[in-house]
Formats: sequence, C-alpha cells, structure tokens
Amino acid sequence: MGEGETIRHFLDLGDAGPDAIAAMIADAIDRKTERADWPKGKADADAPLAGRVLALVFEKNSTRTRVSFDIAMRQLGGTVLILEAGSSQLGRGETIADTARVLSRMVDAIMLRTDDHAKIEEMARHASVPVINGLTDRSHPCQIVADLLTVIEHGKALPGLEVAWFGDGNNVLHSVLEAAGLMKFNVRVATPAGFEPDPGFVDAARENGADITLTNDAAQAAAGADVLVTDTWISMGQADAAEKKAAMEPFRVDTALMAKAKPDAVFLHCLPAHVGDEVSQDVFEGPQSVVFDEAENRIYAQKSVLLWSFGLLG
Ligand code: CP
Ligand code: NVA
Repeated sequence: MGEGETIRHFLDLGDAGPDAIAAMIADAIDRKTERADWPKGKADADAPLAGRVLALVFEKNSTRTRVSFDIAMRQLGGTVLILEAGSSQLGRGETIADTARVLSRMVDAIMLRTDDHAKIEEMARHASVPVINGLTDRSHPCQIVADLLTVIEHGKALPGLEVAWFGDGNNVLHSVLEAAGLMKFNVRVATPAGFEPDPGFVDAARENGADITLTNDAAQAAAGADVLVTDTWISMGQADAAEKKAAMEPFRVDTALMAKAKPDAVFLHCLPAHVGDEVSQDVFEGPQSVVFDEAENRIYAQKSVLLWSFGLLG
C-alpha cells in the first residue's frame, strides 16, 4: 500500500460495494474464460500477484475455502501458507492483535476463518496488510461472490432476481441479504420461527431497496423464484440439536418445492451438503442443481477478491 492509502480489508461485501462487486464478477468471468482447459496450477499470463504471499488462517474446518484460495493465489502468480489454530500459537492463546502484527511483517495479506466476527474485526484493526473474511459465525462474503458469479453464468441478471432461501437464518444467508441490498435483487427467506436471520441484515437490505420477505412457509417462498438456496441446518460450532433438525424438516428443498419455482430456476448450496436433510437427493443431483459450478467458482471469486484487496481491481 502507498503511504496514506486505506488498506482494503474484505470483512463483508459492503467493504467493496456494488461497483467493485460488479468489477469482481466481470474480472472473474474474463479470467475463467481466458484459462479454460489450462492446468489448474498454471499462472495466468499477467501473474498480477507474483511474489505475494497470502496467509490462510483457520480456526474452523474448510475444504473449498482452503483449496480455492490456494489455487487462486497460484493462478495469480503468488503463494500461500496455511496456519491451523491447533498447530499455531493462536491455539495456545496468543492474541489476535499480536498475530495480526506478526503476520503483517511476514506476509502480504491474511485470510481468516474464525467463529466470532469480532475476531476478524480485531485482526483488521491490528493488521497492516489486507484481511479477508473466509467465514465467521456472522457472514461468508467470499462464498456469495462465487454465488453471484454462478447465477450470472447461468444466464440470470441480478437486478430484480427473486432468490429464495430455505432453512437456517445463518452466516451464508446474512451475506446473501447484504448482496441483495448492494446488487438490487430480492430475497424470500423461509425459516422456522426462531431461526430468522439477524434483523440488522434484513433492515440494511431493505434500506438499500431490496424486497426482503420473511416467512415460515417454504412453498410461498419458492413460488416463482429464480434461485433456490439452502445450507446446512447445523453450522460449524453449533450443537447438533434434534429439536432444531425437527423444526427444519418442512424447509428441505425437494422436487415438490423446486416445482413451485420458475422452470429455469437453479439450485445453489455452498457445500458441504447433508443430502437428505436440507436438500433431497434428487434435487442435489438433478438438472437444476449448479452446486459444483458454484464450488468451482470459488477459485475465480477468490481471485477477484484478492485483486480488489491488493488495489488491482475496482
Ligand atoms: N462453502 C465453503 O466455504 O466450504 P468450506 O467450508 O469447505 O470452505
Ligand atoms: N453455514 C455453514 C457454512 C459452511 C461453509 C457453517 O458456518 O458451517
């Protein structure tokens, strides 16, 4: 960063804003198209992050986030190192503040996956390099960049899109709601009573002009929708409560629910999936499911987020 420049942390989608998110999606599509059929680890022709190192810090499990950031950095010409809480001093109580200051002396950017969102805010406060949210209990913005890219690739325009969410009002939904306000699409949220999203995300999306409907009726949410989305009923760090799962039963995305949506509707799931719980086997494996495109697109979404964080995009 140049002296006096603000560091571009990506803690939530609002840190980038609508124009930068649109630029991220456009760049992701270009980079994906340009390297179709190349070996996955080969660098893009411009290798814009050559010489840069990203630290991936995990206080929770991950497959997609870990691999997509690693491959994204390779494709951008940079490298990564991985710190797991259990095998680093973070797991023995070294503070986030000290970890942020040490990593800032050693690497060029930090991605953190953690539980309490306050921890990533603390990391950003003390870091002098960009900090990227790789999921907290509150939000999962990197996932939603990939989701937006996926629906656009499948021929849908964001403004006015009708997105329907089913199940738990969780971190992934919060980022969907934030995206709705920024990119001007609408969200019907179908949850059991007591599992609604944080009202702060609902209010902010509405204030930004998105039409957000909260309902306990899954069929009502699905009617005429363009995109149906769900996620695990039990997120990382939550108790595997039988009562919660029982409450979620009417919100499973199955063929009867899909049939209420538009005929060209697509099904999204950030994965990992619990097939038979939040989604039926036939929907998960069916022709409207684009979940593996969505997973692949984490690479291209992460590349765009990284380029934005380094001030090279948007
Ligand atoms: N969707 C997602 O973030 O997957 P991982 O937990 O495997 O990173
Ligand atoms: N809501 C899920 C998302 C996993 C990618 C969780 O937090 O576990």
